[in-house]
Amino acid sequence: MSTLADKRFVLITGKGGVGKTTVCAAEALALAARGKRVLVAMCNAKERLSAMFGVPPLGSEVSAVADGVWAVNIDPERALEEYGTLVLHSRALYKTLFDNRYVRTFLRAVPGMQEWAMLGKAWWHTTETRADGSFRYDVVILDAPATGHGLDMLRVPKVILDVVPPGLLRRDAERAWAMFRDPTTCALVLVTLPEEMPTTETIELAHALTEMGLPIGRVVVNGVLPPLFSRDERAALLHDAPGDPAAPGETALVAARDRATRERVQAESLARLARELPVPPAFLPLLMEDAAQPSAIRLLAKRV
Ligand SMILES: Nc1ncnc2c1ncn2[C@@H]1O[C@H](COP(=O)(O)OP(=O)(O)OP(=O)(O)O)[C@@H](O)[C@H]1O
Ligand SMILES: [Mg+2]
Repeated sequence: MSTLADKRFVLITGKGGVGKTTVCAAEALALAARGKRVLVAMCNAKERLSAMFGVPPLGSEVSAVADGVWAVNIDPERALEEYGTLVLHSRALYKTLFDNRYVRTFLRAVPGMQEWAMLGKAWWHTTETRADGSFRYDVVILDAPATGHGLDMLRVPKVILDVVPPGLLRRDAERAWAMFRDPTTCALVLVTLPEEMPTTETIELAHALTEMGLPIGRVVVNGVLPPLFSRDERAALLHDAPGDPAAPGETALVAARDRATRERVQAESLARLARELPVPPAFLPLLMEDAAQPSAIRLLAKRV
């Protein structure tokens, strides 16, 4: 398994609802346990990360959520405003320009502006330093949007390089793009479930990212069931036709067949992922309790 501990920027993406935020939280805790200072950046999300750490809701100011872990929910409008002030060297000038309704509407309509505001801000956190000159965070983890939007977001820096004339925006996009493409500093983590559709989507996503020259550092298969049946037992269970539902033991057999079906789908998904992805998949178990609470995240952190 590749290590994320030596990376500066980790971007986590995958299909909606597969456990991206859960994996962000678990990875952050695991890295902090190894002595790293970690920032988790969310993309303007209706965030559930605070529940996972048992802290009050997160805002657009960085706050501490655990020992060695900080988090921020990036608000793209605010990020853009901060960035505008930086570029124009004056908040007063920014206000004059950007409080204008037409300028705001225009900015919102520029394709990729919102995405860059969040991706660029997350990258900028990797450049922040402390008074002694050391980096404020060893690792920044970005809880990126789901597959399609995540890809759109990652395409923006290259578009800026292609169309924006030299200047601060272009210079930052260049530095960010160089970091994202460098496997020694950046890792993309794809989260998926051991099911057919997410598996197909993950393989396609991995190909698209590889084509863009982005390094896939890890694939996490979340919600893996411990197999109860061997391959032969599975085959035997699924081979038998359902019997009389009133017959003794039939309810147990129905449950066993359901489980065997899930295990077969899971085994097929894992085999496909192992065959078609550039890195061997890592697994996280399916928890029976509510996973969005600190005790569950601590448990998952031990497994990542
Ligand atoms: N290993 C697990 N075992 C049990 N439940 C899990 C596990 N991983 C995640 N969950 C639960 O699944 C739900 C979705 O997880 P999460 O919010 O991390 O997904 P997501 O990919 O970030 O979703 P979204 O695309 O909406 O941001 C949550 O209720 C979470 O607690
Ligand atoms: Mg999420």
